[in-house]
Amino acid sequence: MESPTRRILVINGKGGCGKTTIATNLAVAYACSGTNVALMDNDPQGSSTYWASQRDPELPHVEIVAKHQRPGMYQTQAFHHRLPTDTEMIVVDGHSNARGRDLESLLRQTDIILVPILPSSIDIRAGGQFITDLLTHRLFRAAPRPVGVIANRIQPNTQTHDKLMNFLDCLDVPAVAQFRDSPVYTDAAEVGQGVVDMVDCRAARKETAQWKQLISWINEHIQPQSLARKAPKAAERKPTSISATSA
Ligand SMILES: Nc1ncnc2c1ncn2[C@@H]1O[C@H](COP(=O)(O)OP(=O)(O)OP(=O)(O)O)[C@@H](O)[C@H]1O
Ligand SMILES: [Mg+2]
Repeated sequence: MESPTRRILVINGKGGCGKTTIATNLAVAYACSGTNVALMDNDPQGSSTYWASQRDPELPHVEIVAKHQRPGMYQTQAFHHRLPTDTEMIVVDGHSNARGRDLESLLRQTDIILVPILPSSIDIRAGGQFITDLLTHRLFRAAPRPVGVIANRIQPNTQTHDKLMNFLDCLDVPAVAQFRDSPVYTDAAEVGQGVVDMVDCRAARKETAQWKQLISWINEHIQPQSLARKAPKAAERKPTSISATSA
């Protein structure tokens, strides 16, 4: 039987474009909407894992899977990679150096791909190349999946913003969200939060419409049964095993 769990991969070959910021915020946005979500840290830098370690356990739960963390002394690798059986959505924080078998493993197990791009000539060029490589990858061509580009750290009414928008207009893949360049993202990351957690912060509330838009786009493109089940409380969630190559 096909697994009801869906995977979203956030990736770009360019470092610092906002992969971790988007993966953590997306996981929070799903958690806040009652979805059982896991965040898979595929990056050896472990930024998402660190983010999760700062998160208040009272906040909506985001299960963290640290791909590169070694298991504890009494754990096997399979035990270490356990996820609750009722996980509905896995958000994968991909890393910029994913190549060869690592990239293949990520592509094989992904339902939707999000590519964040920053508004600078260097990032636009590198992002364009990454998208071309992705769309022409033999695994992608064998099983095409929805790909969405995210314009990150935008500053409307600047030249670089216009340049990025022109670039996005010419792409074969849709631009599915735009996130502003705002210190609220850094503030949220410091305390293991996403902007959707920060209901009392005006700057964070300004961003929530874009997160809702992104989630609507994702949900339109994944099979509905994955989110159809009612989410039980986090305390009732039981562990299940995922393969060590699954991220
Ligand atoms: N929309 C935003 N507004 C302001 N700051 C942002 C925004 N998005 C990301 N940042 C900041 O930019 C920096 C890089 O972001 P992030 O770590 O998410 O990038 P990354 O692609 O995961 O980097 P790496 O390739 O090193 O994994 C961080 O300090 C983050 O807080
Ligand atoms: Mg990162």
